[in-house]
Amino acid sequence: MTDLISALPSPLASDPAVAGHIDAIVEALRASQASLTGARPADPARKESFDAAMKRVAAVRGRGPIMPYLGTGRGNGPLVELADGSVKWDMLNGIGVHMFGHGDPRMVAAALRAGLSDLCMQGNLTSNADSVAFAEFMVQEAARSSDLAHCFVSNSGCMVNEAALKACMQKTGGAPRVIAFQDCFLGRSVTMSQIGDNAPYRQGIALSTQVDYMPFFDPQLGPRSIEMAVWHLKQYLHRYPGQHACFVMELVQGEGGFNVAPREFFMALIELCKQAKVPVWDDEVQSFGRTETMFRFEALGLGKHLDVVTVGKISQACACLFTAEMNPKPGLLSGTFTASTSAFAVGLEALRTLRDGGFYGADGRNAKLHAAFRAHVARLVERHPEWFPPVRDAFGRESRTFVGGTGGMCRMTPFGGDKDRVMKFLNVLFEEGVMALYCGHGPYHVRMLPPIGVMQPEQWEPVFDIVERAMARSAG
Ligand SMILES: Cc1ncc(COP(=O)(O)O)c(C=O)c1O
Repeated sequence: MTDLISALPSPLASDPAVAGHIDAIVEALRASQASLTGARPADPARKESFDAAMKRVAAVRGRGPIMPYLGTGRGNGPLVELADGSVKWDMLNGIGVHMFGHGDPRMVAAALRAGLSDLCMQGNLTSNADSVAFAEFMVQEAARSSDLAHCFVSNSGCMVNEAALKACMQKTGGAPRVIAFQDCFLGRSVTMSQIGDNAPYRQGIALSTQVDYMPFFDPQLGPRSIEMAVWHLKQYLHRYPGQHACFVMELVQGEGGFNVAPREFFMALIELCKQAKVPVWDDEVQSFGRTETMFRFEALGLGKHLDVVTVGKISQACACLFTAEMNPKPGLLSGTFTASTSAFAVGLEALRTLRDGGFYGADGRNAKLHAAFRAHVARLVERHPEWFPPVRDAFGRESRTFVGGTGGMCRMTPFGGDKDRVMKFLNVLFEEGVMALYCGHGPYHVRMLPPIGVMQPEQWEPVFDIVERAMARSAG
């Protein structure tokens, strides 16, 4: 099927004068970013103005950010320039949003073209061809190995999750309970904060959603972990028959610690859900695009068993995909905005690159980037075993697994996963020139979401030089 943008081209799209101007702007961009070739310390001459700017950031928001980030608007792929004059390797990308890092010429050109559209924001009543093409792309890719047939678009992961839950609730006649994994994260609305398994995120929120938490796969227990999870699920289904709107599962846990699980684990639980007529919702907002398949469910062969899937971040606009059976009645899903025209334009450019750019498979770009990350962690562990004591889990068990995740979801666990030491390291790492964050709720891991579209495996080299320096500083 021709995509709708080609079928209904925008009047300006084929104007050579416009294309010429955009090329000239992109050339100026390339020249401006060419000087950003590696990390650079802050410029002492800018300290005063930067500190003053950060005070304003804190004043207007009501609290300071977790890291002193204020960009100049200039970057070069994985490198970003901050207003204090420093240049950092951005291994976080606004929590995995910027697949092409900073100032990618193709993405900027797409955004410039989008800027000529009649609309800045598109909505459920005012769609141009690009918003439909975005939704069609999602359905086409998902439908290759699932029965997902429709797509509702919105501008945050949390909002598409709200849509998913509403569709599940309507389908089950208003069932009030939700089954979710421990340590899950779904966003920050009143309802998603309640389902997310993190007490501070729902402090002071009146609890109106009833959640039954399931243990996630425990690699130390192996098949026994599957038996335990099945036992838990049976208990819930028996205790509250007909009361569950859905089982929501992240197939790779994001905030929860970049935890993965084998197909058998999910299948055992999905089969019980199917018997009990509990819809299964797969939240791929964080993992979408980053693993060895575009949708993680493809790698696990789970597509045909899913009722609802949500995606976001890398795609720029967010999507709730559902089967024809789950299609809700009119009125349940809408909203003023779907997303901005530039989000659709950049999102489509990113999605096509993901589909056609050799990212997937055991030999694809995502797998190679991950393998190079693991090799660097292994080297670091070998050189400095003192920074990698055994990792202690919530039950006090020790393991010597210091690296984890999959594809462009990379985690390592220094300092035994101790929260304070990991946080101290992340602060020093930022100062030294690499941006990363933590994930997990104990053990705490160092989380990296590199810009998979532009990051080359050999670029881990300068990143890990800085990691080593920061570890030496923070371990001392
Ligand atoms: C798995 C998962 N679901 C949902 C969300 C919420 O997305 P957003 O922050 O765009 O609302 C996130 C955000 O980190 C996420 O990781």
